[in-house]
Amino acid sequence: MTAQTITITQPDDWHVHLRDGDMLNQVAEYTARQFGRAIIMPNLAPPVTTTALASAYRDRILAATSDYPDFQPLMTAYLTDSIAPEELVKGHEQGVFTAAKLYPANATTNSSFGVSDMKGIYPVLEAMQEIGMPLLVHGEVVDSEIDIFDREAVFIETIMAPLLKDMPELKVVFEHITTKDAADFVASQGDNIAATITAHHLQINRNDMLVGGIKPHLYCLPVAKRELHRLALRKAATSGSKKFFLGTDTAPHAIGAKESACGCAGIFSAPHAIEVYTQVFEEDGALDQLEKFASLNGPAFYDLPVNQKQISLVKESQQVPATIGEGDLTISPYQAGEILAWRLV
Ligand code: DOR
Ligand code: ZN
Repeated sequence: MTAQTITITQPDDWHVHLRDGDMLNQVAEYTARQFGRAIIMPNLAPPVTTTALASAYRDRILAATSDYPDFQPLMTAYLTDSIAPEELVKGHEQGVFTAAKLYPANATTNSSFGVSDMKGIYPVLEAMQEIGMPLLVHGEVVDSEIDIFDREAVFIETIMAPLLKDMPELKVVFEHITTKDAADFVASQGDNIAATITAHHLQINRNDMLVGGIKPHLYCLPVAKRELHRLALRKAATSGSKKFFLGTDTAPHAIGAKESACGCAGIFSAPHAIEVYTQVFEEDGALDQLEKFASLNGPAFYDLPVNQKQISLVKESQQVPATIGEGDLTISPYQAGEILAWRLV
């Protein structure tokens, strides 16, 4: 009997951290070998705040992925309290900035230059609304009195809903949603609001991270929530709704930075991302919805053509390596050592 195979339009990854320098060179091909395009997050140190910085970063990514000449990195601007609307509009017009990323100040890795006052960047958001440039949102409040497991839900109430009321035409991607609250909120909004969902948030809940010993490699932000939220995310992803699409939030950190008294947030899921999503959709009897989530809904939201190529996955087990990379840059990939059901051909 030959193994089951599925063939779909080549997917895109709508949320990727590639880092820079040696780490970029080590990780970028894992994304480029699967995906046609990737939205590149701008949280470098210093952050990608200008057209010139984004354009130079794009060249470094293209150099790091030269074995995959069709791979297209789509660049984003890092919003700060002082970024000028003209810089964003210029970058968008020149085809450098596909979108802009909103990090609430100090919400996560390299976000200290993020936005501390939403009203202060309203001129920027109004300009984006005007030209149809998507706003990509890390949707967590940062107030110290708000419990970390509630930060996404409180963000919806206190920031996202008022923002959308003030800017009803703004295109917004609620990135890496982790709660039923966010899935329901996005589903209830107009076509200008969508969300990405990571592979790991479809598979793990907070028990996976905390029960039986703390698993630093499953720690990310937004942090995994309780089981009812994971189930709501799976329902949203596999529903066929055009509002939900693939964004891995793959975020490499060297092992030493994760296995630490103060470990970094981030899960490096790039190496086997499409295989993990495929497994999730198969488990939920929704393989027929995988192509929409992985390859069609994202381009439709971003007003881009779908990829011309196709990819195939075969139902053959494979083991995820224990580590990836070398020396100081060795990374523990998502599901290190585990057996996956599918393999990208
Ligand atoms: O877990 C995360 N890692 N969440 C983020 O928002 C940032 C990312 C990173 O850059 O490491
Ligand atoms: Zn991210």
